[in-house]
Amino acid sequence: MLTPQWLDQLRSRVALSALVGRSVRLQKAGREHKACCPFHNENSPSFYVNDEKGFYHCFGCGAHGDAIRWMTDHQGMAFMDAVKDLAAEAGMDVPEPDPRAAKAAEKRDSLHDVMAAAQEWFKTSLASPEGNSALRYLDTRGFDAHTIQRFGFGFAPEGRQALKGALSRFPEEMLIEAGLRIAVEERDPYDRFRGRLMLPIEDARGRVIAFGGRILAKTKTDAPKYLNSPDTPLFDKGRTLYNLHRAAPAARQSGRMVVVEGYMDVVAMAAAGIAECVAPLGTALTEQQIEMLWRHVEMPILCFDGDKAGQRAAMRAITRALPLLRPAHSLRIVRLPEGLDPDDLIKAKGARAMEALLSEPKSLIEVLWEAERDAVPLNTPEDKAGLKARLMAHVDAIQDPDIASLYRREVQDRYSAFAFPKRESKWQPGGGGQSGFQRGSSQKGGKWNSRPAPAPSSPESISRLNRRHEQGGTRDGLSAAVIAGLIRWPDILMRHAEALARTPDLDPRFELLIDCCGGSEALESARLEAILRQSGAEPPTPADYYGFRFGFLGNGENPEKSAEELTQAIQLLIERPVLESALQAATARHEREFTDETFAEQQRLRERKLEFDSRLRHMATRHASS
Ligand code: UTP
Ligand code: MN
Repeated sequence: MLTPQWLDQLRSRVALSALVGRSVRLQKAGREHKACCPFHNENSPSFYVNDEKGFYHCFGCGAHGDAIRWMTDHQGMAFMDAVKDLAAEAGMDVPEPDPRAAKAAEKRDSLHDVMAAAQEWFKTSLASPEGNSALRYLDTRGFDAHTIQRFGFGFAPEGRQALKGALSRFPEEMLIEAGLRIAVEERDPYDRFRGRLMLPIEDARGRVIAFGGRILAKTKTDAPKYLNSPDTPLFDKGRTLYNLHRAAPAARQSGRMVVVEGYMDVVAMAAAGIAECVAPLGTALTEQQIEMLWRHVEMPILCFDGDKAGQRAAMRAITRALPLLRPAHSLRIVRLPEGLDPDDLIKAKGARAMEALLSEPKSLIEVLWEAERDAVPLNTPEDKAGLKARLMAHVDAIQDPDIASLYRREVQDRYSAFAFPKRESKWQPGGGGQSGFQRGSSQKGGKWNSRPAPAPSSPESISRLNRRHEQGGTRDGLSAAVIAGLIRWPDILMRHAEALARTPDLDPRFELLIDCCGGSEALESARLEAILRQSGAEPPTPADYYGFRFGFLGNGENPEKSAEELTQAIQLLIERPVLESALQAATARHEREFTDETFAEQQRLRERKLEFDSRLRHMATRHASS
């Protein structure tokens, strides 16, 4: 096990400048070294290496990290490989897991050899005359040679002993343990996969750990359409996502990850240019799979079949996800047209149609609401109360206290608007992407795809940890600046009141301002200031937001520009705590687990935080010169 202490020791033994200096020409600059940044194109150096702190940082592009990060991001190594290399150079031993674990690892190694050999043989069989029928079948599905090769399609010939013959160099027990042969009492073991089109299932590092086999057309009517490997020391279907090792790098590029139900759908999506796509293996999405998805993107999109079963699978995934929700992490859902799976949809309507659907996923709360609302007729008060009870039971499943209270609030709002339709929502819809529940639009039209997800304002994305964050000067300054701006521009306050009301832990003055929006009187700057004073709170003074030069704080500024800037500043205020707590959680996770995946998640969030900080700096100072 790697401990944080061990990793710190490793970092302290590595001279970062020497490591970086192997591939970048460094100049001494005081106690640091500088260079033109190897992560982006530039002519004057803004990349600094600090040996004392053990970090490099680029002021141009924000690239930032330690020795391990250098190895993963600049040299393209996996986390554990980077650790091993650095340890070897530093003369440190990578802590071995206990001997029993080492034995198990050895065994897994040899099972990997078996699986790799089986995969080679299936591929060879597909290319041989025996594989003709399978090739023809692939052709009828429209998969070209490139796709066949990329996904490693193969063929398992007929016959109960064919695989045994081909892999005779491995002992029978290993073939059984690998799930390739089936052992039954008092009879000879026999090959599991016979006369099937074979698809290798790979782990996050691209090693074959299992197979899926499909019957060809309707040759065998009583056989199951798909046969998967059983769970083995290599394969745990609840912890595997088909195609993850190809989807993960693609998701890094696009910031998106799509989950479909079947592996053929994954293949069809990839053939249509959507590479960031994975599938569970014939079971409902598990907690572990949801966590795996979240290590790559915050909002994976479920794109399940447009039939009853697909809808049920989506609901099952949602109820599994509820207890796991954490700040900024959720699911989005796309429902396909009745009777189509992703493969069918792409064949019938093309990749464009698929992209169009993916660009308008629904939020989790939206789908939950609609599913419960439409579950049974709601004719009587009892029916309506039943709806409320079901919704609240879902909310009670949410463990994160902030997300739970945000959900409770939104569910209550939707429910009230639905059960007591005359009462108008007091907030103006549309401000800052926060729309109150609009009864008409979600009852008419397609039930699942009619409205885009209000993703930036979903309860998960605006929630954060309960406890107070450290009060950095910037943050207080930002709050003060926004409050001053809102007093000056009451229309903007009106528009964002709901979003701000849903953000916990804000400066208490926000609440006073928000309360003013409910009344019938027009909002005026002088009145807002008076209300703050009456409640014993002072309006911010320039000293409170010293250093911030937002346009909306000045006099005689262009009103439109000020409004836009103030809106952006409000978004920053709402977004920052979400990011911070997500980063905190990811860091804690990585320090517990130390895997490539936890590392990637933590680094991704760190990048986002840096990008966020630079956005804030940029906004706050861009008026300095004008
Ligand atoms: P589907 O029945 O939706 O198959 O099963 P599909 O993806 O549309 O496949 P094609 O287009 O008919 O070839 C979805 C998933 O359920 C599991 C498999 O993992 C499959 O990818 N499954 C399905 C089984 O494990 N066994 C079966 O008999 C059927
Ligand atoms: Mn299909």
